[in-house]
Amino acid sequence: MSDLVRIYEVGPRDGLQNEAVALPTDAKVRYIELLLAAGLREIEATSFVSPKAIPQLADADALVPRLSEVPGSAGARFPVLVPNLRGMERAEAAGAQALAVFTAATDAFTERNIGMTVAASLDAFAPVLRRATELGWWRRGYVSTAFGCPYTGAVAAERAVDVALRLLDLGVDEVCFGDTIGVGVPSQVAVLTGTAVAAGIPLDRIAFHFHDTRGTALANVSAGLDAGVRCFDSAAGGTGGCPYAPGAAGNLATEDLVYFLDASGWEHGVDLDRVLEAARFAAAALGKPLTTKVGQAGGWDASTGAPTSRA
Ligand code: COA
Ligand code: ZN
Repeated sequence: MSDLVRIYEVGPRDGLQNEAVALPTDAKVRYIELLLAAGLREIEATSFVSPKAIPQLADADALVPRLSEVPGSAGARFPVLVPNLRGMERAEAAGAQALAVFTAATDAFTERNIGMTVAASLDAFAPVLRRATELGWWRRGYVSTAFGCPYTGAVAAERAVDVALRLLDLGVDEVCFGDTIGVGVPSQVAVLTGTAVAAGIPLDRIAFHFHDTRGTALANVSAGLDAGVRCFDSAAGGTGGCPYAPGAAGNLATEDLVYFLDASGWEHGVDLDRVLEAARFAAAALGKPLTTKVGQAGGWDASTGAPTSRA
């Protein structure tokens, strides 16, 4: 099993979609530039959803054409969220080359989030994923509420895996299990991964998306690593959450994840100091203090015992 971990940055999309302040496009471009400078190579950039649903990301059509001009963008992947063919047309026109579709393990959540049942959402994604496959785009499928639903409670691993299998049948390259409301614990991560693998899903097609709502995100990453998963989502500055998931605190912060991976000896290609620059930039742009753990404490220099890169 490889020691190389992929850090999939969701700050510009999942991070910004639930913030009170909508950042100007220029600030988003700068945020992405700082993330690239930190070594992040997969950055979920925005959503081509209804601008009424997510006004914070209504400038997707203007943002995406600028991404190829951002220093450091060569070879990076900028997936965009696409809910339907209308979104696909917009994404294509803007020059996107990678996408994510998003459904959930529970109907109650998808009905609030995208106005359809899980089955209907899969029907809606089928032509989107067909088109993306024709175009040779990289494709991810999210299974939100994989660890628990804000409306219906506990979710069985089999249910989340069943949805993941259907996304894979529709042609996604990777499935990402989301702990949308941050209720999951390490034992669940182990069970979910085991259930997915037993159902025939290869480990290198599985990613996890943890929220730190109840302080379990890094413990869950650790359990994911133990189970053989090598791709984890995070947002520099720990911003965001889903507007349709009441009580969902921010995403796992990229700086917290990078510190944890560095100190544990995993390779990932991302520089902590520079992630902190991006995190500080995002916090300042949003007019908020940086409240992530490493953002407040800094990293730690093992040779001197001194904190480093304090925000
Ligand atoms: N881009 C832009 N506008 C879109 C769109 C898209 N991809 N899809 C739909 N719309 C517009 C329609 O044109 C329509 O506009 P109108 O009211 O001016 O006529 C309106 O949105 C409603 O369209 P409809 O097809 O009836 O869809 P809906 O109201 O059932 O909404 C979604 C379905 C999926 C488009 C909408 O719920 C959505 O965008 N949700 C985003 C959820 C999200 O991003 N959550 C966070 C991620 S976890
Ligand atoms: Zn999230």
